[in-house]
This record gives sequence, C-alpha cells and structure tokens, in this order.
Amino acid sequence: MKNYLEREGKLLSIADNNGYEHYLSVRSRFNSGEFSPLDFIFLSRAGFNGMMRFGSKGNWNIPFCKKPDRFAQAYITKIVNQLSAVSQIIQPEPEWTFYNKSFAEIIPLADENDIIYCDPPYYGRHVDYYNGWTEDDEDNLFQLLSETKAKFILSTWHHNDWRENEMIKKYWSKFNVLTKDHFYHNGGSVENRREVVEALVCNFDTNGFAQHNHGVKEQTVDKQLDLVWE
Ligand SMILES: C[S@@+](CC[C@H](N)C(=O)[O-])C[C@H]1O[C@@H](n2cnc3c(N)ncnc32)[C@H](O)[C@@H]1O
Repeated sequence: MKNYLEREGKLLSIADNNGYEHYLSVRSRFNSGEFSPLDFIFLSRAGFNGMMRFGSKGNWNIPFCKKPDRFAQAYITKIVNQLSAVSQIIQPEPEWTFYNKSFAEIIPLADENDIIYCDPPYYGRHVDYYNGWTEDDEDNLFQLLSETKAKFILSTWHHNDWRENEMIKKYWSKFNVLTKDHFYHNGGSVENRREVVEALVCNFDTNGFAQHNHGVKEQTVDKQLDLVWE
C-alpha cells in the first residue's frame, strides 16, 4: 500500500491538467474490470469531497478532488495505519462471509449471540444513494430491530441547528440513545457539510457510556467507539 501510494501520488502530482489526467487513468483502469483494491483506495482518497459513488453499470463515477499533491507523506502514513488497524481486526479466525442483501433479509438471521450494526441512509436528509430511504424503510427497520434477540447499534442523526430527526421520537426513543457532536467535512449539499448531533441507538445497557460529548470538539474521528459489556 505504501509503495503503491507513493508511486501513484507522484504520478498524480506531475500529471497534466493539474493531476486530472492521472486520476482519470486510474479510474479507467479500475472501471475496465481490474477492480484493484489499491486503486479503490486511491480513488476513494482522491475523489471529490471524499464521496463514494458508482453509476448504474457499477462504474466509479466521482470526479477528481483537484488536489494533485493529495498524497503527502503524512497522508500516506495515515492511510497505511488505517488499513493496518482494519486488517488486524479482521484477520485471524473466524472466517468472514459478506452478504450483499437487504437488511430485511439479514436481520432475521441474527440470534442472541450476535451484534447488529446498522448504518442506513439518514431519513429526512439529502441522501445520494441509489434507492433513497423512505419512512417505510425506517418503519421496517424499526420493526425488525424491535423483534431481534441480538444486540443492535444503529447510527442516525438526532438534530442540527434547524430541525430534529422526527424518527427519534417516533421510533427510536424507546431504546437507549447516545448522542455525539459531529462535523461533516464532506457531502454533496451545503446543509450536509455542517455540524450535526449524531445518535447511536442501542437495545442494551449503555449506563457505562457517556451520554453525550457536549463541548468536546474532536478534530479527528478515526477511532470508533469501544463497546464493552459483560
Ligand atoms: C450511510 S451508508 C453506509 C455507509 C457504510 N457504513 C460505510 O461506512 O461505508 C447507507 C447504506 O445503506 C445502503 N442501503 C440502502 N437501502 C438498503 C437496504 N434495504 N438494505 C441494505 N442496505 C441498504 C445504501 O446502499 C448505503 O450503502
């Protein structure tokens, strides 16, 4: 990964059209069917606003972030460290199985020894996902998570300066709701690039967790919550 990013970052910094030509060549290479995971990391870090989007034919269609010097040494180190952390988590046994299915098919498969993490599109906010996310989806998710014997954690938004997420009162407030200030640096619309109070909804005891991080302005959000229960 390190060698790859150093090489491609150098090519990006000297490419024509302020780097754009090299971004396009990596994008074409990826879309031609190579689907190299290295190119995927490159595109996800050199694309406009950190967005990730595919066209209907499965092609990566995000334009360039227009920063030819994107891959500075410190940034490469950060990416390499992130990948190393993830690979340590997913490495040893057990084996992993990835399903690409609707939540409606997956959630009923979980039992009391499982933990379900749901990160659906945010209801009521501008979402750029292919199918959108309707109140029926939220309702369906709520019904399934209410019935599951597994532990679950759901990410959603709580409120921002203008409005609140009506789904919290309607559905999620019957569970434990933790909140956290978060500033979105990327996103297609201006409203989505503002401070939002995020919510984590859980169906298990969260007394040991801080209910909110009011006043704590974190600059980085790389580390995920560590969840501990007996
Ligand atoms: C906020 S994104 C999740 C991002 C992801 N956690 C990550 O870190 O990359 C919401 C995802 O929900 C997916 N989604 C939408 N409807 C779905 C459904 N019925 N079943 C499963 N996933 C769905 C969208 O395709 C989108 O990838």
